[in-house]
Formats: sequence, C-alpha cells, structure tokens
Amino acid sequence: MANDDLRAANKAKKDEFYTSYEDIQTEMNNYDQLFRGKTVLCNCDDPFESNFCKFFLRNFNYLGLKRLICTSYTSSPIIGAQLTLWDNMNELVQKGYGYVMDISEVPMANGRGVSDDDINDLLHSEKRGVKKLHGDGDFRSEECIEYLKQADIVVTNPPFSLFREFVAILTEYKKDFLIIGNTNALTYREIFKLFKEDRIRTGYTKFNVGMFFEVPDYYEKYTKKVDGKKYARVSTSCWFTSLPVKKHNDVLICYKQYDPNRYPKYANFDAINVNKYTDIPNDYDGLMGVPVTFLDKYNPEQFELVGLGISNSGLEIGVRPYTPEHKKYRKEIQHKGAVDGDLYLIDNEGHPDVPYARIIIRRKEN
Ligand SMILES: C[S@@+](CC[C@H](N)C(=O)[O-])C[C@H]1O[C@@H](n2cnc3c(N)ncnc32)[C@H](O)[C@@H]1O
Repeated sequence: MANDDLRAANKAKKDEFYTSYEDIQTEMNNYDQLFRGKTVLCNCDDPFESNFCKFFLRNFNYLGLKRLICTSYTSSPIIGAQLTLWDNMNELVQKGYGYVMDISEVPMANGRGVSDDDINDLLHSEKRGVKKLHGDGDFRSEECIEYLKQADIVVTNPPFSLFREFVAILTEYKKDFLIIGNTNALTYREIFKLFKEDRIRTGYTKFNVGMFFEVPDYYEKYTKKVDGKKYARVSTSCWFTSLPVKKHNDVLICYKQYDPNRYPKYANFDAINVNKYTDIPNDYDGLMGVPVTFLDKYNPEQFELVGLGISNSGLEIGVRPYTPEHKKYRKEIQHKGAVDGDLYLIDNEGHPDVPYARIIIRRKEN
C-alpha cells in the first residue's frame, strides 16, 4: 500500500485488512517450539473469520498450545457478514457484540491431526468456548486486558491506526508478541526505542515483498478481485516480534571500504551517509546514517542503534536545525518540506539534499 493510502487508512480508520492463512503459516513455520505449553491470544480476531484463529485451531495440538483465546471487536464492519471461514457460523454470531473464543482442547476425530471437520464440529459444540463479551471487544477494554494478562504470546494483525497503542499495551504487560505492522512503524519514536532496547525485532518473512490482505467489498484502492473475494496489496507490511529471530544473530558481512567521496557527511550532523545497507563500509568506526530497512538485518551484537535522523528524534541526538539559507532554498526553490531535525547533505551545487529517513548506527567494537 502506498503511504498516502496508509495515511488514508489511518484517517478513515479503515482497519479491515484480513491476513491470509499462507502468510501466517510462512511466518509461524519458524517458531513452533517457542509455542509449546503457551497460551496464545489473538485479540483483534473474530473467532469465525480470522485466519489467525483458524491457524491456531488447526495447529493447536501440533504446537502443543495450552490455551487459545481469540477476541473480536464489535465494530468490525464485516462481523458475521463477509468472511466467515466455517460452515453455518453466521447463526452463532450476533451483530453488535464482541465475542471471545476460549479453547483448551481441540479434539481430533481420527487421532492423527486436526481436520476442518474437527474444527467445524468443535465450533458447533459446547466445547467451543464461545461467548459474548460484556463490552465491544476493544483490546484496551478491561475484560480484554484480563485475557491479555492470562496470555503468554499475542499473535495478530492489529488495526494499523492503533499500532502504537497496541504495542504500548503489550510492553506494559510484558507480553511476548508476533504481530503484523507497517514498515513505517519502524520510524515511530516509541517503536524505535524498543528496537534500541532490543525488545522488538523484525520477523522472518521477506521484508520488502508486501502481503495481500482480504478486504471488505467496499474498499477500492489497490485492490483486485479473485474468485469473488477482494484483496489489497500492502507493500510495506512486515512482522514485528519480541521472540528470538535467528537472522538478528547473523553478522552482516560488509564488503565496501570507506571513501570520503562516496560517503559524504551530513551538513547538520557528524555522520556519513550510506544509501544501502549493503554499502556499509567495513572500516568506518564513526556514526553512519543508513536506510530504515537496515533494521531487518540488525544484529545488536554488531551495531549500536544511536537514534533516528528524523525531526524531533533527530534534534534529540544533536542533528542541527537547517541554516536559514538552506531552509529557505528547500522551501522556496525545491518546494519541499524542511523539518528541523531531518538529516541533509549538500549537493555539488551547494544546495540541500535530503535523503529518505535514516537511522544513525555505529559499529560495536569486537
Ligand atoms: C488489520 S485487521 C486484521 C484482522 C485480523 N487480525 C486478521 O489479521 O485477519 C484489524 C482488526 O482489528 C479490529 N479492530 C479495530 N479497532 C479495534 C480495537 N480497538 N480493538 C480490537 N479490535 C479492533 C478491526 O475491526 C479489524 O477487524
């Protein structure tokens, strides 16, 4: 999804992007042992419509889960309307209520693996543990926080518009999580701080390929229809987790060598500019500004995250404001935003040149 569409989603609170079963499975393939004996909470997930719920029901026994809790949000515009994954479930769902499904056992008819028939049977039986919530199922509500307290790992795709708040609650209650978010969130001050503290990292799924989400019929931007269902591609989606991810222990091999002509310093900060993480020089020990995508390769043993070279976060680490002359030129001649705290270079003609968002890093001594 282009940034303008993400902003539009935030503004209009268009949060109905339903994750595909395949994307969940691809990411979950890397963590199975970490889920043994755990209580999983999917707290933005209609039990009958979310593939997160479906995935954990199907794999409940294989993963060795202790308990699965899924809560749905009453205001979801598709509740009981569009995406029901199971047969004859609409009769179990009443519009206008949040629901919880709370399961500690998934019986298997053939004793070998959980089939869709097993799940259909479970969802129609007393054991399904589905009940109306008292409130609307908002993940911030008291009853949902009670479920959060009982959980070990939260796994979901939360609403884009509430991502900061969602992560804040997870960290407040010290819960592990595996969630989908937008790569733009990497530059949110609060999220970046967690990266610095090594309390969050990107997951395994390839970073820059995007994901397809099923969306309600009335969504129009960046959508395509396949077999009567509407999908939207969000090119900037990625997984965020507090769980260990092996690639973040790998040492990034840097082949390039420092050359002051190829790595100019910013006009307003004592750091060199590096345009791609693959260009990080192996012999430069000072501060370096690298693209945000570096975080997907970041190994906290190898590099230190110093800060963000963006607006107030930049000012906090000592990025100097524009000179009046550069600010005027940028605004009046280049017709671009000139936010103090953003890093900038000086081009061959002596004019300000602002690279895309940069993270300031430093190599750690080994
Ligand atoms: C991005 S969608 C993802 C849905 C589902 N987790 C999935 O991945 O298929 C986010 C969901 O969160 C719901 N939602 C919005 N605000 C919420 C809130 N305050 N509390 C809980 N859920 C909320 C939306 O209605 C929407 O269904």
